[in-house]
Amino acid sequence: MTVSLTAAAKKRYSTKAYDPDRKIPEADIARLKELLRLAPSSVNLQPWYFVIAASEEGKARVARATDEAYPFNSPKITDASHVVVFATRLKADDEGFLNTLLEKEAADGRFDADPEQFRADMDRGRRMFISIHTGQRKDAFDWMDKQTYLNMGQFLLAAAQLGIDTTPMEGVDTDVLDREFGLTEKGYKAAAVVSLGYHSQKDFNAALPKSRLSEDAIMETV
Ligand SMILES: Cc1cc2nc3c(=O)[nH]c(=O)nc-3n(C[C@H](O)[C@H](O)[C@H](O)COP(=O)(O)O)c2cc1C
Repeated sequence: MTVSLTAAAKKRYSTKAYDPDRKIPEADIARLKELLRLAPSSVNLQPWYFVIAASEEGKARVARATDEAYPFNSPKITDASHVVVFATRLKADDEGFLNTLLEKEAADGRFDADPEQFRADMDRGRRMFISIHTGQRKDAFDWMDKQTYLNMGQFLLAAAQLGIDTTPMEGVDTDVLDREFGLTEKGYKAAAVVSLGYHSQKDFNAALPKSRLSEDAIMETV
């Protein structure tokens, strides 16, 4: 059952205990996978990669990143239905990748009105932002990591709208995830993990009220 975005944002909370017997239907997993693809990113760089653990073995491999340093997070991984490892590209100025993006945008019809001009403009704009972050700001990886987190935010809300509970987790050893899933060799670095499923009766957080700063404390209208 889907609900409004505001209702989903109010209902969403970080699940602390999952029902290990409940699995997310494949149709919902397919929707969530599509949303991972559809998230926005600066200059459409899409600097991300996802490892989706759908099996007991897969989840156990993700839990290797929590077992030692963050054991309190391990059951949130092993008892969940699915777990997504969010990873970020290591290198922004990769000629092969920039070409792949242009080819895909061309194939998707983005340049149809004036193929040469639009393609050149897109390429120039993308390279300009990349060079700002590789050059003067020297924060290219952090810049790309922010895009991954933007995707994660959308993902958490989307899951809530589908009635699926989630736990975003930074309490994971990302170096362990990199090794476990060969992410460095693929050109990525693990950022964080999101567990997905349905909370159990043992989840103390399910009944707690949400706490957020007031509008006055965090925004102004000018
Ligand atoms: C990036 C990020 C990392 C987080 N890491 C963890 C974590 O490692 N373990 C955990 O139980 N909760 C984790 N949380 C959950 C937060 O504590 C939670 O989102 C926050 O307290 C707000 O509560 P709510 O999500 O229930 O609304 C994380 C949340 C975010 C957004």
